Amino acid sequence: MEALRIYTEKPYCLQGEVTVSGAKNAVLPAIAACLLTEDALELNNVPLVKDVQTMLTLISELGASCALDEKHRTLTLQAKKIKSTEAPYKLVRAMRASILVLGPLLARSGQATVALPGGCAIGTRPVDLHISGLQKLGANLKIEHGYIIAEARRLKGTEIEFEKKTVTGTENLVMAACLARGETVLKNCALEPEVVNLCELLVKMGAKIDGIGEETLRITGSRDLGGAKHRVIPDRIETGTFMVASALTRGDLILKEVEPRHIEAITDKLIIAGSQVEQVSPNIIRVRGSEEIKPQDITTAPYPGFPTDMQAQFMVLMTQANGRSIITETIFDRRFAHANELLRLGASIEIEGDKAIIKGKTSLSGAEVMATDLRASACLVLAGLIATGQTTINDIEHLDRGYERIEEKLRQLGVRIERFISNNNNHRKVEVKS
Ligand code: UD1
Repeated sequence: MEALRIYTEKPYCLQGEVTVSGAKNAVLPAIAACLLTEDALELNNVPLVKDVQTMLTLISELGASCALDEKHRTLTLQAKKIKSTEAPYKLVRAMRASILVLGPLLARSGQATVALPGGCAIGTRPVDLHISGLQKLGANLKIEHGYIIAEARRLKGTEIEFEKKTVTGTENLVMAACLARGETVLKNCALEPEVVNLCELLVKMGAKIDGIGEETLRITGSRDLGGAKHRVIPDRIETGTFMVASALTRGDLILKEVEPRHIEAITDKLIIAGSQVEQVSPNIIRVRGSEEIKPQDITTAPYPGFPTDMQAQFMVLMTQANGRSIITETIFDRRFAHANELLRLGASIEIEGDKAIIKGKTSLSGAEVMATDLRASACLVLAGLIATGQTTINDIEHLDRGYERIEEKLRQLGVRIERFISNNNNHRKVEVKS
């Protein structure tokens, strides 16, 4: 198990520049989309994160060739033939987004066997809407031995209304509908920029999709999708995480290669907290923290609302606000595990159902904490920047799933941070750079 340790002799005031990576949640569906055609896809601005590796392992097992040029962040993918139609449990368990191969595999090969993701650290996350949507498109599905087993000679377009907005559910069904016979109308689709980015790729591949960026998508299926070149959008959650880092440390950060339109909900909340957020050029922003951080109430919601993936990071910020803040989590039912870890650092947080009540301002002191999921890990790294002394964050494999070289990016801003192999309290340093 690897761990990160942050040394904070006096609270940091982060200053400098950070280049934001491509969006993990946009590249994963784009990789799955390569299964829809025998031609090659070229993806640019690919983030070098663990989830990308997991997705590449999966699609290689299915028969696709993958060449990742790490230096240029370019990924070339080609699924000339589908060799296997099974997504095994070991990969789906490591990354729930593996479910994204279900729609494309079924649509291209007429069959798909994909492990059910099961429970996860942030609560119940069923895939019933993916399953019922594919059934409406004419697939026969059964669940046996923990696997979804799907078959369909050719999917047939129809009208489907999602009961609830689902990001990967929308992506799975859009991809499946692209190869289906006739027109599919998807209603109450997720509006996240990652869904839009996928639709734009599919259009470049030859798909006919009307209503991109709206709740109703009309897809006219076709058998001949081809290759395409596509740029992955900037990661709005990594952007938001560094914005909070600046606000929290009363810093002054320039964030490059960002998409300001995608982070409006985050920007609005930071401005209420007292930060200044300025657009320097189309893809560069400057975020300056203020001496006094103001409390506020935040409710997570589907895009364009406040993202659940930024909730944990804002919880740290609210521990430093002068007064009481309430965070209401409406997307996932158990997404407050980070609160317990923040309590170990000295925060004052009470959980009441879907609400976290944070009383600020509390001074945090470094301790050993455990990262329970991806965004909880980011929240603990942020906490380490203001907790006095040493903060050791254990089990950081979650962090590596979604943040590219976060410790290197922080080091460039002056943070003393080290990565360790943590073995029964016996820490061995694996990398030290000043
Ligand atoms: C995606 C993101 C994740 C983010 C989440 C919400 C990726 C790879 N992951 O996850 O980072 O936190 O959106 O913005 O893009 N639901 C059902 N049935 C289903 C599907 C979903 O009830 O079949 C529920 C979920 O339990 C949850 C809500 O719908 O309460 C939204 O989940 P969803 O948008 O599907 O999340 P993911 O796509 O898994």
